[in-house]
Amino acid sequence: MTGGQPPMGSIVAANRKTLMLFSGRANPALADEIGEVLGVAPTPTELYDFPNGEIFVRYEDSVRGSDAFVVQSVNDPVNHRLMETLVMIDALKRGSAKRITAVLPYYPYARQDKKHRGREPISARLVADLLKTAGANRILTVDLHTAQIQGFFDGPVDHLFALPLLAEHVERTYAGQPLTVVAPDSGRVRVAERWTDRLGGCPLAFIHKTRDVATPGQVVANRVVGDVADRVCVIVDDEIQTGGTVCKAADLLFAAGAADVVVTATHGVMPDPSAERIKNSRIKEVVVTNTLPLPPEKQIDKLAVLSIAPLLARAIREVFDDGSVTTLFGGLS
Ligand code: R5P
Repeated sequence: MTGGQPPMGSIVAANRKTLMLFSGRANPALADEIGEVLGVAPTPTELYDFPNGEIFVRYEDSVRGSDAFVVQSVNDPVNHRLMETLVMIDALKRGSAKRITAVLPYYPYARQDKKHRGREPISARLVADLLKTAGANRILTVDLHTAQIQGFFDGPVDHLFALPLLAEHVERTYAGQPLTVVAPDSGRVRVAERWTDRLGGCPLAFIHKTRDVATPGQVVANRVVGDVADRVCVIVDDEIQTGGTVCKAADLLFAAGAADVVVTATHGVMPDPSAERIKNSRIKEVVVTNTLPLPPEKQIDKLAVLSIAPLLARAIREVFDDGSVTTLFGGLS
């Protein structure tokens, strides 16, 4: 090619790459917010349930050749939302989208990432296989329950971290107070170490937590290890489900002399009666992101919801431009 002209006889596509955004029904507000940052509105989509619960989807614009990003928060009803994601991806594949990225801010079934006992599934792997079979080429997600889940998907997984967003809130709100970062169980110690680095090397404590595997949702917080007396304890978790983990941890921390307890978690899953439980606890503030939608009745006074949309939008932009998602995190991995 010379002088910027294509060689004789070749054809150059008028529009070689088009970023298109698609939203499932779970969290359209998040998709709209991402779209506003990107300057790309979600594609008009016909999406509804048949009377028997089956899902129908059809895009109202051509998706041929697009770089498609499907935004879906897989929340309650989880299996329905998951199926909706799959049929949306299938429709894009059959509509000749060039590349399909499943943007799942909250990865469903992540806690079943191994067989805890014999004769159990590895559901997180199954979800990855379903996404692949539907036609997803990549996954974009935030704070996986365990980082190894990235390896379940046969393709690129961009794993984003909410830590900078959450930590900025904590730094600003509790400036000048003595902080201790608390891992609510052994699985969070590595993340808690990153938090202490971010908060200028403050002390780290952790809770020895056990669960009765035969009783779902039952948490036993055994004891706290670390320097928590007279300090503002910042519990850092990936998600809040029943609230059992953070409420029991808070009880232990207060019993050990904590001045206050603040909770941060990326995903506020919060099925009932989690919000009520937190409201009635001594926890001062719970900080989550909007990876999942929270209905007004769950937005209790002590809950702060930070928007993950700017981070997702920046990551989508980097993926679209073949840029670097890693640079968004300044060394976190
Ligand atoms: C557990 O390993 C997770 O990191 C969370 O601590 C847990 O999922 C929270 O669940 P719950 O709110 O029901 O205690």
